[in-house]
Amino acid sequence: MWTKSNIPDQTGKTVIITGTNAGIGFETALALYEAGAHVIMACRNLKSAEQALIKIQEHKGTGTLETALLDLSSLTSVNQFAETFVQKHQQLHLLINNAGVMIPPASKTTEGYELQFGVNFLGHFALTGYLYPLLKTTSGSRIVTLSSLAYLNGVIDFDNLKSEKDYDAMREYCQSKLANLLFSVELQRRIIAAGDHTLSIAAQPGANKTELSRHMSDEAFNKAVERIGELMEPWQGALPSLYAAVADEVAGGKLYGPDRDGGYRGYPAEATITPNALDETVAQKLWNMAEQVTGVYYPKSLYEK
Ligand SMILES: NC(=O)c1ccc[n+]([C@@H]2O[C@H](COP(=O)([O-])OP(=O)(O)OC[C@H]3O[C@@H](n4cnc5c(N)ncnc54)[C@H](OP(=O)(O)O)[C@@H]3O)[C@@H](O)[C@H]2O)c1
Repeated sequence: MWTKSNIPDQTGKTVIITGTNAGIGFETALALYEAGAHVIMACRNLKSAEQALIKIQEHKGTGTLETALLDLSSLTSVNQFAETFVQKHQQLHLLINNAGVMIPPASKTTEGYELQFGVNFLGHFALTGYLYPLLKTTSGSRIVTLSSLAYLNGVIDFDNLKSEKDYDAMREYCQSKLANLLFSVELQRRIIAAGDHTLSIAAQPGANKTELSRHMSDEAFNKAVERIGELMEPWQGALPSLYAAVADEVAGGKLYGPDRDGGYRGYPAEATITPNALDETVAQKLWNMAEQVTGVYYPKSLYEK
């Protein structure tokens, strides 16, 4: 059973985690702070990020913390965050693409994309692309991207990414979480093809009590709990991300999640990736589309497969 007591000393490591003011991101930041890392808490609301920072500092830890503004629903904000970061930092050991939104009322990003696709996938695609040159030159670096079991029901509908057709909140969430996993696996393929050494790893946290369900009615929430069973605490949901981030035995291109009850509960282990997330044709089409939409082109060595 792998828990946060297995995290090796992270002193000297620089880590960015998106969405650390709440839920799984908060617990991930706390654990890495306790282990000695310098954690950049990248959040869309600085006040709430500062409050989370204070809460983390109440714990014993040898790490350091800073907050930074990052709104993944705006590509301008992603660009500003990344530019400020690279001006201040010479190394980036770990990027954890954690932030997410689930089944909001129909809404769009600044650039007009469906919000979940935009925040969960496009924003993180752009962020990772901006930071890749720094990750590539940092020895032992890793990129952890959060997916969800929802990916199992996901399909990328290339004709509906701006909600041109109808809006089905859960369908769009599943699509965004499939996009996260397709991206994580495809990034690893491209890293290998380029001869780079960064690892791209996916994590899915299982079923947890967090604010992700904020847009669900009580009735829908209760029905979901009836179907999937007891929810874990956020600290336990953070374990797959932490495992992917620091364990020696993990490999790039893989998915890690809780080991029991179909991946809903338990402790981190490798999870099977189903064919919808291993489809290279879809992954490449998604990648090309994301580069065009975001204007963030990965280094040429990664681009030319
Ligand atoms: N909880 C689960 O059971 C579960 C299951 C499967 C997958 N996941 C995945 O786990 C990740 C973390 O979710 P969680 O459960 O911890 O949910 P959460 O408690 O709602 O936390 C989500 C975080 O994402 C941030 N965020 C939302 N929109 C953003 C934006 N536009 N820009 C920057 N940050 C933004 C939130 O900030 P605000 O507080 O400002 O909104 C918050 O910090 C997500 O990727 C989610 O899809 C969770």
